[in-house]
Amino acid sequence: MASRILLTGGAGYIGSHTHVALVAAGHDVVILDNFSNARRAVPERLEQITGKPTKMIEGDVRDPATLAAIFKTQAIDAVVHFAALKAVGESMARPLDYFDVNIGGLTTLLHAMEAAGCRRLVFSSSATVYGVPDEAPTAETAPFRAMNPYGQTKIMGEQMLGWLQAANPEWAVGILRYFNPAGAHGSALIGEDPRDIPNNLMPFVAKVALGELPRISVFGNDYDTPDGTGVRDYIHVEDLARGHVLSLEKLLSTGQGHVVNLGTGRGYSVLEVIAAYRRASNRDLPHVITDRRPGDVPIYVARADRAAEVLGFQTEKGLDEMCASSWKWVSNMAGGA
Ligand code: NAD
Ligand code: UD1
Repeated sequence: MASRILLTGGAGYIGSHTHVALVAAGHDVVILDNFSNARRAVPERLEQITGKPTKMIEGDVRDPATLAAIFKTQAIDAVVHFAALKAVGESMARPLDYFDVNIGGLTTLLHAMEAAGCRRLVFSSSATVYGVPDEAPTAETAPFRAMNPYGQTKIMGEQMLGWLQAANPEWAVGILRYFNPAGAHGSALIGEDPRDIPNNLMPFVAKVALGELPRISVFGNDYDTPDGTGVRDYIHVEDLARGHVLSLEKLLSTGQGHVVNLGTGRGYSVLEVIAAYRRASNRDLPHVITDRRPGDVPIYVARADRAAEVLGFQTEKGLDEMCASSWKWVSNMAGGA
């Protein structure tokens, strides 16, 4: 059944891809975004992809009046809450900003939803809630471990939502713990668009392939992994977006919440990512081995069976497709698109 969905942070990387997937599934989508980390061209790009007008509200998720007006006028059935700050290093330097946006924003949103009687929410969480996990692949039952203020906000968000559901069973929340989102939409009209020098591997490699950065630093090759470099479970952002559609539809059809990892269940090392990106871009990718990055985790790989059982979620795209779509997107952007 078609529903009306509010996407907070829907102009961002994962939100924009989820918008496309929701519209393709027949839903009616409203975006709320303050463009603090999104380009103003995104709504128009979304129209090009979907062939439908983008309903875009510019505003801050911390503003109760904006939210009250949206719930009053838009007949929202459910919300996907992407709006957050997400840079780990920045969160160590400016923790209050992270508590303000990630916790304050969530609290304000939940108040507005409660007042409107809208109690279906999908929450963007992260594998970072596991800190350094004892086991890889990591199951949803692994304990929370905060490594930095960003991770702390995701743990606190999940806990708040757990207490809310305990207090009122009319709430149904889908908590999605993303592993490492990568790649871009096949149209090359939307993708990850870091404004500064990227911290994450795939966007950094993309900039080296474009010639905008001279070389990749591989942060350590002495981990207990097959080639000594860090291993991650990269998930194509289009697969991830589809996971949100399944999560929402599950919440709306059953009224029951869930907590699931969204990953592929397969890990790739830093050197494997560089090799795959070299194949996709046909560019030389110079790299040097440097010291480990402080606070880094050797291996993050999802146990992916719960998402399959609860949501029927399976990933369809592998690392080569992530690198190829990323390369198409960054080349398109560099060409001024
Ligand atoms: P993003 O920065 O591209 O998207 C976030 C969007 O929220 C941006 O468009 C930004 O302008 C908007 N926003 C920020 N603060 C806002 C506010 N106060 N009011 C309204 N809009 C606001 O990030 P993303 O990669 O798409 O991440 C989306 C969500 O997924 C975040 O909650 C993030 O923590 C989580 N997550 C991301 C990753 C990842 O690797 N990208 C991994 C795990 C979890
Ligand atoms: C990082 C965050 C994590 C967040 C995730 C998604 C840290 C410590 N962790 O995770 O909390 O949820 O991003 O936003 O920042 N690497 C290099 N060279 C680089 C960049 C990365 O070798 O220039 C390596 C890393 O050591 C790691 C792998 O590549 O082994 C992936 O790194 P990254 O893309 O930053 O993701 P995470 O470390 O998983």
